[in-house]
Amino acid sequence: MPNTVVVGAQWGDEAKGKVVDYLAQQADVVVRYGGGANAGHTVSAGNEVYKLHLVPSGILHEHVTCVIADGVVVDPRLLAEEIQGLRHRGLPLNNLRISSRAHLIMPYHIVLDQLEETKRGASAIGTTARGIGPAYADKASRVGIRMQDLIDDRRRDRILGAAVDAKNEVLTRLYGADALDTGTVIKEYTAYANVLREYVCDTAPIVAAAAANDRGVVFEGAQGTLLDLNIGTYPYVTSSHPIAGGACLGTGIGPRAIDRVIGVAKCYTTRVGAGVFPTELLNPTGDHIRERGQEYGTTTGRPRRCGWLDAVVLRYAVMHNSLDALALGHLDVLSGLSTVNVAIGYNVGNRYVETLPSDLNSGETVEPVYEELSGWSEEITGVTRYDDLPSTCRVFVNRIQELSGVPIWSVSVGPGREQMIQRTDGS
Ligand code: IMP
Repeated sequence: MPNTVVVGAQWGDEAKGKVVDYLAQQADVVVRYGGGANAGHTVSAGNEVYKLHLVPSGILHEHVTCVIADGVVVDPRLLAEEIQGLRHRGLPLNNLRISSRAHLIMPYHIVLDQLEETKRGASAIGTTARGIGPAYADKASRVGIRMQDLIDDRRRDRILGAAVDAKNEVLTRLYGADALDTGTVIKEYTAYANVLREYVCDTAPIVAAAAANDRGVVFEGAQGTLLDLNIGTYPYVTSSHPIAGGACLGTGIGPRAIDRVIGVAKCYTTRVGAGVFPTELLNPTGDHIRERGQEYGTTTGRPRRCGWLDAVVLRYAVMHNSLDALALGHLDVLSGLSTVNVAIGYNVGNRYVETLPSDLNSGETVEPVYEELSGWSEEITGVTRYDDLPSTCRVFVNRIQELSGVPIWSVSVGPGREQMIQRTDGS
C-alpha cells in the first residue's frame, strides 16, 4: 500500500478517522502526527463506536502498529484514561507506541488555556480548553517537558517540580490565579508514567522502516488545513501543523517517502470556535445540516457552525497539501434539500476572487458566490455502489471534482465502514 497522508481539507471534523480506519486494513503502521486531545476521531466497527482522542484510528486492527509521534502534545491523564477504556472494551493495545520525544500537556497548560481565552474577551478563539496552545508555546520556547522526562524516575521529580514552580509565578503574579500544588502534580504524573511507560520508545525508526519497506504507513492528520498555524485562518487556528507537511515533522520520514495525500472533506462545511466562515448558514438549512449530521463536537460537545460546501477552501487545501484526491463524506446529510449550493468564489469588498485571501481580518466583507445545483430527496444511507446514488447526487459529486481539481476517491453515505463507497481503484 502506498504511504498515505490523510489530511483534513476544511476546518477539522471531516471524519478522517473513518478513512484512516478503512486504509488501515491494508497498512502496517498508522501514525498520528500532530495536535493533541483537542481532536476527536470516531471509528465504527459493527455496532461498536469508538471515540478516540490521542490513540490513532488504526487501533481496531490488531496487525497495525499505532504510533503517537513526536509532533503530538500528549495529555498523560487523558491518554492513560483512553488506554484503560480501550483495554476495558477488549482491545489489547499491544501495538501502541508513544514517541519518547512527544511533549506533555501539563495541568498549568490547561489552566493557562482558559485564562488566556478569558483575557481575549470578545476576540476569544474558542479553543477546546485542552491546553494545546500553551503546550506548543512551551515547546517552541524550549521549556516543554517530554515523554522521556516523564518516564525517567531519576529526573521526573526535578523537571516537573521546576516547571510547576516556574508556571506558578505566571499563574499567581500575572493572572492572580491559584498556584498548583507541586507535590500533587508530581504524584499524579508519576501514576501516569507507570501506565504509559510500556508504550514509550523512539518511534521514528519504526515508521521509517515500514515506510522504506513498502509495508504501508498511514499518516493520520488531526484538525484541518484551515486550522493550520501557518496557513490557516490565523489567529483562529490551532497551534500545530495539520497540513500534509506536518507528517514529515519528526515522524521518521521526509517528504519523498509520501506516496499519496488524500484530503477528507464533508460535502458541506463546519467549523467549531470563532473565526471567518464565509459560507456559514445561520438559518433553518444550517440547522437541518447540524441535526441530520449530528454536528456536535466529539471532544467538547459544542454545536458546530454549519454552512455550504466551499470550493475556494477545497482548492486551497489541494494547493497546500498536494492533494492527490478527496474522500468526500456525509452525502446522506444533504438528502431532503431541494437545492444544494457550492461556493465557487467570493466577493471581497468590491473584488471577485476565486482564491482564499491571505488577510481575512481586514474588516472587508467576504460574500460567497454560489452555484446552485439540484438536490435529492432519496435516503441514500443504504447505497453500496456509486452508480446507485441518485443522478443529481452524482452530478453534485462530479461538480465538486471539477471545482476542486482533484478526483473524488470515495464518497460516504453514513458513519459505518460499509458506508464508504470507493469511486476509483481503491488502492
Ligand atoms: P485548540 O486547538 O484547542 O487551541 O483550539 C483552536 C481552534 O481549533 C478552535 O477554534 C477549536 O475549535 C479548533 N479545533 C481544535 N481541534 C479541533 C478539532 O479536532 N476539530 C475541529 N476544530 C478543532
